[in-house]
Amino acid sequence: MGVDSPLITLLFVLIAMLAYVRGHGIDFDADLSFSNGIQPWGTEEDEEFEPLSASEFPLWKSSGAGKMPVNVDSFGAVGDGIADDTQAFVSAWEKACSLNNAVFLIPEQRIYKVNATKFRGPCQGKLIIQIAGTIVAPEEPINWDPKNPRLWIVFSNLEGARIQGGGVIDGSGSKWWASSCKINKTNPCRGAPTAMTIDSSSKVRVKGLTIQSAQQMHFTISRSVAIRISGVRVDSPPDSPNTDGIHISESTDISIQNCRIGTGDDCISIVNASSNIKMKNIDCGPGHGISIGSLGKDNSVGIVTGIVLDTATLTGTTNGLRIKTWQGGSGYVRSVRFENVKMDDVENPIIIDQFYCDSTKACKNKTEAVKISQVMYRNISGTSRTSKAMKFACSDTVPCSNIVLNNINLERENGTAETYCNCAMGFDYGFVRPAADCLRNDDSSSCSGGSVNNNRKHGQVNTEL
Ligand SMILES: *[C@@H]1O[C@H](CO)[C@@H](O)[C@H](O)[C@H]1NC(C)=O
Ligand SMILES: *[C@@H]1O[C@H](CO)[C@@H](O)[C@H](O)[C@H]1NC(C)=O
Ligand SMILES: *[C@@H]1O[C@H](CO)[C@@H](O)[C@H](O)[C@H]1NC(C)=O
Ligand SMILES: *[C@@H]1O[C@H](CO)[C@@H](O)[C@H](O)[C@H]1NC(C)=O
Ligand SMILES: *[C@@H]1O[C@H](CO)[C@@H](O)[C@H](O)[C@H]1NC(C)=O
Ligand SMILES: *[C@@H]1O[C@H](CO)[C@@H](O)[C@H](O)[C@H]1NC(C)=O
Repeated sequence: MGVDSPLITLLFVLIAMLAYVRGHGIDFDADLSFSNGIQPWGTEEDEEFEPLSASEFPLWKSSGAGKMPVNVDSFGAVGDGIADDTQAFVSAWEKACSLNNAVFLIPEQRIYKVNATKFRGPCQGKLIIQIAGTIVAPEEPINWDPKNPRLWIVFSNLEGARIQGGGVIDGSGSKWWASSCKINKTNPCRGAPTAMTIDSSSKVRVKGLTIQSAQQMHFTISRSVAIRISGVRVDSPPDSPNTDGIHISESTDISIQNCRIGTGDDCISIVNASSNIKMKNIDCGPGHGISIGSLGKDNSVGIVTGIVLDTATLTGTTNGLRIKTWQGGSGYVRSVRFENVKMDDVENPIIIDQFYCDSTKACKNKTEAVKISQVMYRNISGTSRTSKAMKFACSDTVPCSNIVLNNINLERENGTAETYCNCAMGFDYGFVRPAADCLRNDDSSSCSGGSVNNNRKHGQVNTEL
């Protein structure tokens, strides 16, 4: 049999294509089933966090072969960290977006300085956005584009795109932080740009990127459906103001897994009109923890449902698992599960705060509030820096209901841990420490003033602090 056997020829072609792909540093190992959309979210024990196989086979079916790299360097990008590469990126994007099978390529080992830019779809094909190098923001707030005061890198109206490549998105945030009114009270309070945004998109997958030193938030997902984020790193100092790691707003069917987030505000925050958000294998700290909210600011409606966090470590954070709402809001937070979480030196490991007030002037109590119900905490253990390891500070007029605790073991490093309740109804079962009998006060007439219990005898208020 000769080398011209069709099978052998096919093999050579495959090897050649593989070599091409490797040589161009394009990562095709992403989950190809993604093109079929995210499976519907199950309600119980859903396992759609399937392990990512490095050897996804059917590369060749359609998309693997014939990918057309569109390299920003070919459009005049300099990549020295000094030159303004904005125009080159815009031109390369237009080209890549117009092709059927393109890879928008930002090569490795270079630093591209880019102004606030919207990379808009819809694109012709399912784009691969290969960020292998570093994209850096201009560092002077005073020169920032006044037309985009709150945005830097934006991907919008994309369907089925993949953003990957192991590169870095660096917001050069230090001058923005210094100009924040949270750092220096003489500064005016104004918002700063979000480093990276995915807006009005669907079936986008983001894998293996570092987002660091954001001007304000690091990575926002807004008005989007079916976005999968994995292996993303967020890195900013603990004193950087309002630098949320991953922020989700008005989005549905979002998964965040295997992410390591250290920053100056919430590691993950989930706000209004978001549902079916799954987080798995999250490492958070420093930061303000994993938050639902804030919701209900300025008497607004806030609705968040279907949140699952499974397997997380929180280290040295100011909060652990937090739901925060302002007095006077409306709407609801419903169907939330936090499980398999390890806390290490966390100030408020478990907290519902319906008196949230992140404002320069004090907030008044009001009769309206965002209703919180069906929140389960399961298998949560570790250490609390404060005595109130669990705090359920719920609205007097709209109490929390169906708060469920199971298998909780939170200790105070030095001293006695306790549970605080105000108008929180629910129950606990299995091992729960500190004791949470105050949850069982499901008589709403008794709903005024806080009550506390510790891990000694039922009803005994801890005075040793
Ligand atoms: C990027 O921003 C700088 C500073 O404001 C400005 O001089 C430059 O013209 C902008 N580049 C583009 C392509 O708009
Ligand atoms: C706060 O900002 C003012 C005005 O820019 C400045 O004079 C002052 O030195 C700053 N204070 C600190 C502590 O940085
Ligand atoms: C929250 O979402 C709801 C429904 O999606 C919407 O009606 C409301 O205006 C949103 N609230 C805010 C503050 O945007
Ligand atoms: C409880 O959570 C820890 C992680 O904090 C995990 O290692 C352990 O397997 C979980 N236990 C059960 C019974 O799921
Ligand atoms: C913990 O308590 C011990 C004994 O009271 C004390 O010596 C130690 O300084 C305390 N540590 C902290 C971190 O408060
Ligand atoms: C609001 O209500 C809570 C719970 O009853 C109470 O602890 C708090 O002191 C009140 N705040 C104000 C400003 O009245």
